[in-house]
Amino acid sequence: MCGIVGYTGFQDAYNIVINGLRRLEYRGYDSAGIVLDTPGGSFQVAKTKGKVDDLVQVSTELDKTAHVGMGHTRWATHGVPSDRNSHPHISNSGKIALVHNGIIENYDTIKTMLLEKGYSFQSETDTEVLVNLIEYFMEINRDFDFPTAVRFALNEVYGAYAITVMHDDYPGLLVVARLGSPLAIGLGTKEYFIASDASPFVEFTKEAIYLEEGHMATISLEKGVEIRTIVDNSVIIPEVQQLKLSLEQIEKGGYEHFMLKEIFEQPKSILDTMRGRLLVEEGIIKMAGIWDHQERLTNASRIIIIACGTSWHAGLIGEYLIEEFARIPVEVEYASEFRYRNPILSEKDVVIAISQSGETADTMAALKLAKERGAFIYGICNVVDSSIARITDAGSYTHAGPEIGVASTKAFTAQLTILSLIALKLGKHNGHLSNQEFMKLITELDQLPNKVQEVLDSTNEHVKEIAKNYIDATNFLYLGRGYNYPSALEGALKLKEISYIHAEGYPAAEMKHGPIALIDENMPIVIIAPKRGHYDKIVSNVQEIKARKGQVIAVVNDGDEQVASMADHVIEIPDTSECFSPIIAAVPLQLLSYYIAVYRGANVDQPRNLAKSVTVE
Ligand code: F6R
Repeated sequence: MCGIVGYTGFQDAYNIVINGLRRLEYRGYDSAGIVLDTPGGSFQVAKTKGKVDDLVQVSTELDKTAHVGMGHTRWATHGVPSDRNSHPHISNSGKIALVHNGIIENYDTIKTMLLEKGYSFQSETDTEVLVNLIEYFMEINRDFDFPTAVRFALNEVYGAYAITVMHDDYPGLLVVARLGSPLAIGLGTKEYFIASDASPFVEFTKEAIYLEEGHMATISLEKGVEIRTIVDNSVIIPEVQQLKLSLEQIEKGGYEHFMLKEIFEQPKSILDTMRGRLLVEEGIIKMAGIWDHQERLTNASRIIIIACGTSWHAGLIGEYLIEEFARIPVEVEYASEFRYRNPILSEKDVVIAISQSGETADTMAALKLAKERGAFIYGICNVVDSSIARITDAGSYTHAGPEIGVASTKAFTAQLTILSLIALKLGKHNGHLSNQEFMKLITELDQLPNKVQEVLDSTNEHVKEIAKNYIDATNFLYLGRGYNYPSALEGALKLKEISYIHAEGYPAAEMKHGPIALIDENMPIVIIAPKRGHYDKIVSNVQEIKARKGQVIAVVNDGDEQVASMADHVIEIPDTSECFSPIIAAVPLQLLSYYIAVYRGANVDQPRNLAKSVTVE
């Protein structure tokens, strides 16, 4: 994870780097650092444990008029968060500075070799090893220029990286490279930007190059951007992309937190995900990714969905949807397990990866494995041109817009929207879904943005009040059945990741096989009980909880009486088919976690130990 920003041009690099790092803080925020290349002087470095605001505090002495510089916001992998372990790391001679996102797996071997050659290290990081390896290559090969030494060093390392490197003897030159971690180059007029995603430079330019896997680039005002392969130095002609991201999309727009803004954006993000795809009047679902490969998908011997975290929860709901409507067998796997368990895969299998960021290392590795074994691979990603989007055979973007809050909200409901579209489209194509049933379902799907808006309007203040009762809770249970069992898992994950209250999600019927032992008057239990989804069974579960004095927060349909009469708190949501109810139920669960976390004083947008994009395994 970690975020990287770099700049060379005519503006003050300090401001660009600091503002850029603020936008990338979602990628990691345990330490931050900056290095500036001042004309005629040597590097000026400031770095600290803490956030970008802390970095600003320790940067007072820097020459803020420098026009070249780079910075880093960190999510620790090797070495605890500390001033010393913060990036940039500087080589022994003081001449080379490097910022890195990723992990150098063989750093220990290289470090031992460098120690034997007389190098010393200030930090426990793998990054400091890499910067000294570059220096070592320049030392032992006097004819090597700086970019050549970077390339030789990178050919010695295993692992994942996006790096930016500067050399004091090469003023104005930035060398960047990537393998497994993203890096974008913004092309301005007489200026260049580097960043882990385009958000740090979107107000300066709409033209960008997304560096490809295994490529490195030299960037300078004199020679522009020159890209070569790391392995054999072959010249690459880059593809320049036009950015669609706007500044407004990545700012808070009056909300206190990105998470709240993103929760409230869901009517729009769901609509955007359906836009141009769901054509109710024509009675069709139009999806280019599916259309071109319809036979391949409907004839799949099985579909395997791989993902992590919230995206994995979306995958579980995808399993219910695809099996119910398209009658194709589906398995859902954690990408991290799948990649290491030698799974049985054949050319008849279709593997669907779900990833908001499109950069999750485990999901990416699992996909590569599936591809090697001949499976057809399909991506559901939110970030356009992300690594996963680029290696898949086909796919559908979720179009939820940038998700900055670390806890996934609008990306989740957009993933569910896409999975609903896919399931209905495949079911219609292979004849398992009658025309009448298809029309009924797409009409309901089309109403979801309005229903989500309704839930936001009617429950926000109410949920905020309910949350006050649970500020001191230490445990929570979330229960649901059928399609809403994954909703329970997701509700619990949202609460624990941002409020640090322990929470578990369970299929409601499993309660009596263990978790019921936990229930007493101190245990809050969120129960998701829409009318159309094993309602009678849920009623019995609520009775069992109340018999043990558990506190019930029930998410029920408007006008519900039976569950509502037993619950301590009732949150009403509009009725829809069971298969779409997780999209609506997600909203009050997100709000509940959000308000509990806010009341507890937690940093909801940047919860401790987490990062938005998990590019390390
Ligand atoms: C939870 C959350 C994470 C991500 C997971 C996968 O709110 O955001 O659990 O869902 O890290 O990330 P992506 O979807 O980017 O692959």
